[in-house]
Amino acid sequence: MKILISRLLVLVCLALSFTASAQRKDDYTYANYDQVQMSHLYLDLAVDFQQKSLSGFAELDFDWLVEDIEGQTAIILDTRDLVIDKVLAKANNNHWYAVSHKLAKRDPVLGAKLVVDPKFQAKALRIYYHSTAKASGLQWLTPEQTAGKQKPFMFSQNQAIHARSWIPIQDTPAVRITYDARITTPTDVLAVMSANNEPETERDGDYYFTMPQKIPPYLIAIGVGDLEFAAMSDITGIYAEPSVLASAVAEFDDTQAMIDATEKLFGEYRWGRYDLLILPPSFPFGGMENPRLSFITPTVIAGDKSLVNLVAHELAHSWSGNLVTNESWRDLWLNEGFTSYVENRIMEEVFGRDRALMEQALDAQGLSFAIAEMAPEDTELYLDLAGRDPDDAFSSVPYTKGQLFLIYLEQQFGRDKFDKFIRQYFDSHAFESLGTESFVDYVKANLINKYPNIVSEQQLNEWLFEQGLPSFVPRPKSNAFELVDGQIQAFIGGSQTAQQLNTNIWTVHQWLHFINNLPLDLTEQQMSALDNAYGFTNTANAELAHAWYLLSLRTGYQAIYPAMERYLVTIGRRKLIVPLYRKLAETEQGKAWAAKVYLKARPGYHPLAQGTVDSILR
Ligand code: BES
Ligand code: ZN
Repeated sequence: MKILISRLLVLVCLALSFTASAQRKDDYTYANYDQVQMSHLYLDLAVDFQQKSLSGFAELDFDWLVEDIEGQTAIILDTRDLVIDKVLAKANNNHWYAVSHKLAKRDPVLGAKLVVDPKFQAKALRIYYHSTAKASGLQWLTPEQTAGKQKPFMFSQNQAIHARSWIPIQDTPAVRITYDARITTPTDVLAVMSANNEPETERDGDYYFTMPQKIPPYLIAIGVGDLEFAAMSDITGIYAEPSVLASAVAEFDDTQAMIDATEKLFGEYRWGRYDLLILPPSFPFGGMENPRLSFITPTVIAGDKSLVNLVAHELAHSWSGNLVTNESWRDLWLNEGFTSYVENRIMEEVFGRDRALMEQALDAQGLSFAIAEMAPEDTELYLDLAGRDPDDAFSSVPYTKGQLFLIYLEQQFGRDKFDKFIRQYFDSHAFESLGTESFVDYVKANLINKYPNIVSEQQLNEWLFEQGLPSFVPRPKSNAFELVDGQIQAFIGGSQTAQQLNTNIWTVHQWLHFINNLPLDLTEQQMSALDNAYGFTNTANAELAHAWYLLSLRTGYQAIYPAMERYLVTIGRRKLIVPLYRKLAETEQGKAWAAKVYLKARPGYHPLAQGTVDSILR
């Protein structure tokens, strides 16, 4: 009998948890957002560079989705490595009451669940707390680690699940909030946020922000440092350390043209200003689409605009991602695939079809290489993260497979219909979060069934839910790359020396294609002949250097080591350094060299990059 009852109980629990998780689609939050959702955040934080800490309080307003029956009064928030001092709860009578809270044991991926149960359905919570030096979403740089060497710098990187390391919050992209903030700092630095930055603001160490549009918490962002502003147009400008500002403006002065192009294609830019914040080279990503203020790595300032697709990409997120948001990290392709597609359309508008095709072809080849080395189950667009840390589970699949899927639809339906569809998709889901299943419903209703017999449901499902690439995947082809292929053949066939290759007006993209397609059995002499002719080892272009170092490691070309050491010590962008550490770690000797360099490099890396490289060299 006892056994029967306990079996029954298990069944009931299973049924309950099933219905609950049917609504809670995000596995990476503890929040009970199927019961209660935050609507607005007020942050009041002091920036303490000595303690590497943000301290003050966060006030969250809530809307309840369930009735206050059967004691549904608990609010569950996400935190990681926060110290919580006290919690107040606002009751219906608008009075604040001190309430107790419970901080659970820290989970290595999710952090520590914070449960506040005032025994009434609180309208708001005010949480006094501070972040710690361990915060995974913040990097604190000493003056020596900045370009100017005079003042400290700090910045946040919340995507995917790092908001919780500096704000107690419902850290899920399924919930959206507006926010206001008061940030106090030492008086000699400027604070900027993903909000209404005012270029003329007085530098007095007391800064106010408001973000009136609803955004998911991964888009809350802050940067503090010796920042100056330069305008590029009425609504675009750059924040950067003084010594970086002029070169950044020269590199990115097509930003307004990119906005114009996107508005023409896909509808109004809805966020007011669009500024760029140039970070120190330790920024772990190329860029981050924080609304109104994209965060950008300085490693794309190449001097020739060859890498500005990054700005097109972060700008494109103002539509795909920030306006229409993936509701869970399984659906990342809805953000990144759409954005890679829109990015390339922007590049085509502003820089022409040839360049856009070269960028497509480079990415498509990169995807094929990546898929060949990945676990097959990780090559599905609708990702199964399987409980892993999202930081370790993301790849080029959501980006480039997602982009190729949309290029496929574009080619099948034609730009006329497809552009209208995309524009409508952005409009009808503006300021909403949605998942792959809702997208499937939408694309069926508005494209596939609307114009029948062009793309089948089976084809749609193959793109979204099956592994690898469909046989009918678009294969971007660039004439400029065919010229390069010809020269590669001439070189390896011996009909032309490195010097004699016809490379006169090659662009950076052609050089990248060249390096990426050289055979791995090149001899030391051949590598060194190419290096002498074209100076790859010491190139200032961070992408080219990366490709060359990787090829050199694969072919065993030794001359790169001093330059690669400088590279690894100055740059902290994960995409550029991680593949090098991985390759080095494959041999005993390489691993020893990498460990030695990493000793110097590690203090300058972001916690995220440190985590990844630690696990490679462990
Ligand atoms: N939103 C991403 C960065 C990101 C993705 C951070 C997932 C954390 C989790 C950003 O827009 C991005 O994709 N950056 C790329 C740009 C590139 C594809 C042009 C990068 O950093 O390399
Ligand atoms: Zn992106």
